[in-house]
This record gives sequence, structure tokens and C-alpha cells, in this order.
Amino acid sequence: MSDRRPLIVGNWKMNGNHLEAIQMVQKLSYRLEETDYESVEIVVAPPFTSLRSIQIVLEQDRIPMKLGAQNVYWAEKGAYTGEVSATMLAKMNVTHVIVGHSERRAIFGETDSDVNKKAKAALSADMTPIVCVGETLEQREAGEAEAVVTNQLNGSIKGLEGAFVVAYEPVWAIGTGRNALPEDAALMARVIREGLRERVGSDRAELTSILYGGSVNPVNIKDLMAKSDIDGALVGGASLDPDKFASIIRYRI
Ligand code: 13P
Repeated sequence: MSDRRPLIVGNWKMNGNHLEAIQMVQKLSYRLEETDYESVEIVVAPPFTSLRSIQIVLEQDRIPMKLGAQNVYWAEKGAYTGEVSATMLAKMNVTHVIVGHSERRAIFGETDSDVNKKAKAALSADMTPIVCVGETLEQREAGEAEAVVTNQLNGSIKGLEGAFVVAYEPVWAIGTGRNALPEDAALMARVIREGLRERVGSDRAELTSILYGGSVNPVNIKDLMAKSDIDGALVGGASLDPDKFASIIRYRI
């Protein structure tokens, strides 16, 4: 067993307006107890438009949940229409930023170098980047999964000087209801841990949380969390349902 505290992150993607977001967080908090927050670090990552509303609810209701963003731009400020900087997010008490999600890589053309700059920007504003990596079905079937993930990892974490989280999200498991077998996810988490040892040294590698993401649900979470190199989950669809997300967080029960 490691000392790494379990981390469960809800990635709401482009779902919910700010009023719905407030309701979701409140409903989730009604389903959780103090001991849940003690045993698991909980992060919700809504769309940018809901961050401020949720920040206020968390503060007013003293809910010890953390706030995540789904993206960030690396420049500090300036003529970057449509972008949001790390300091803007940090000012709203955002603690975690998802970078390099496969949807951003595939739909918006983000490269490892972009992801690396975003991760550095998050760190420079004292936020924790959650660096996503993962192979497509085609790459897995061609036996390239480990090489693809290792390359993405190397390119994305180059020169990062603070603590970060890695999320392994095989593209074929996202939103498909087809999660990776816990054994396969654990194998890749081991590959990632080994890659981290080489890149950032054993001590930092041991401290780095590795999450699994891809069709995580209240049923499969238990077996995933039983794997020694899997420290948590990045949850998409199921995090939009407070009942399901709460039972994922309470996977021990
Ligand atoms: P699903 O849980 O909906 O498969 O999404 C996973 C994901 O992409 C989380 O970032």
C-alpha cells in the first residue's frame, strides 16, 4: 500500500449551466459524509462558466471539495480571444487543471508540447495539473499502447517542477461504457510509474498520483482502486449523476 491519498475527479465536460452546476454540487454534498472527504480527495471540474458559482457554494456551505478546471491557456494575459489564464483560475480557488484530455488532443489538435506548456502554466499559479495520456483502439490493437502512452507522458511532463497527477484514459474506454479491465489499467499504471521514475526520479514518482479514466462507474471502481498503482479516478459521465458519483467516491463502502 502506498501513502498516496485516493483522488477522485469529476470531469463534467461541456455539461450543465451554472444553476445546474450548483444543484449538482449540493446534491453530491448531501450524499457525502465528513469521513468521505477525509479518506478521498474530491475534485469537481465543471465548465468555466460554472467555476465561480461553485466556488461560492463550496465556501458558503463549507464543503471541503476542491475545484478543477478542464483547460487553461499558457500565456499570462493578452490578445488570446476565448482563452483563460492560469492566474484567472487560481484566483477562483481552482486547485487542479485537467490538461491534455484526449478530447482536446483529438478535437482541438493539442500536442504534447501544448500540454506541457499548459501544465507549466498551472504549476506557475500553484495549481496541480492533471496530465492526461491514453492510446486509441487502433494503437492498442497494433500493440503500440505502451509506447504511445510513454511518449505522451515524456512530452507532456518535460521539465515540470512541481507536483502533478497523471490520468491514464484509454480513448476507446471513454464514454463507451467499455472500461479497461482493471488488470490492463493496472499494467499501464505500472508502465507510467516506471516512466515517472526514469523522468523525475523514484521519490517524486512514488508521490505522484496516477488516475484511471474511462467508463468508471459505481461497480467497477472497487476493482480499479484495489490496484496498487491506481490512486484514483477521472470520471466523466457518471460524475454528472450525484448518486453515482457519490457511490464512486464511497467505493470502500
Ligand atoms: P467517461 O467516464 O464518460 O467514460 O469519461 C471519461 C473521461 O473522459 C474523464 O475525463
